[in-house]
Amino acid sequence: MRRKLAAGNWKMNGTAASLRELNALKSLLPADAPDVVICPPAPLLFRACEAARETGISIGAQDCHMQESGAFTGDISAAMIADTGATYVIVGHSERREAHEERDRDVRKKAQTAWNAGLTAIICIGETLEDHEANNTLDIIAGQLAGSLPGDMTATNTVIAYEPIWAIGTGKVPTLEQIVEVHDFIRSKLAVRYGTDVADMIPLLYGGSVKPDNAATIFRAENVDGALVGGASLKAADFAPIIRALAQS
Ligand code: PGA
Repeated sequence: MRRKLAAGNWKMNGTAASLRELNALKSLLPADAPDVVICPPAPLLFRACEAARETGISIGAQDCHMQESGAFTGDISAAMIADTGATYVIVGHSERREAHEERDRDVRKKAQTAWNAGLTAIICIGETLEDHEANNTLDIIAGQLAGSLPGDMTATNTVIAYEPIWAIGTGKVPTLEQIVEVHDFIRSKLAVRYGTDVADMIPLLYGGSVKPDNAATIFRAENVDGALVGGASLKAADFAPIIRALAQS
């Protein structure tokens, strides 16, 4: 059975006071909760790991550098992230691809570096509005999968998040049919490249304007194993119903 995962990406939001949301979340989790990971800003990683101790909630970073160490002022290595106690890192988020001009090969290198540090990589892919409207989604996704995933991905070191860029933070969500089509396509591409044993075990998350009121519909898709949630992960009261919807899916 493939595991289910609800991941919250706080982006550049939150200070130490926000960590109280972690404690609030714990008390709102159902007994049969799926895996939950919160990705706070880097300065909060250590304290978030302390706050999440014994809650069953995992902590992840939002990015790592592609090199193991060196003269990269302001950057954070995968080993530093692991040293805080965090166990996940998001790589290739569209906000990094766009604002920091990260290319597929950068993302691939980051995933590899994350694995070397013992982290699980949440690798993000997704098309622009322009590509969506031109019906290029599957071509873009195929290209990003080919370029962003290292060849030695295993069943346990990676989670893939499909996030249509036009759905992130916009309140717009693809139809269930569109989500089903892309997720089925991703799973089939993984099977061709890595074999069905690996492909069947990789959690595929949907991301982009997931909210308490649309989560249950999205989780109906067979190849959606969870969500990468931005805005609605900032408050336990919003994230908890999404987690509950995933548990019931
Ligand atoms: P959103 O962000 O849920 O606020 O749309 C999702 C993401 O960027 O991961």
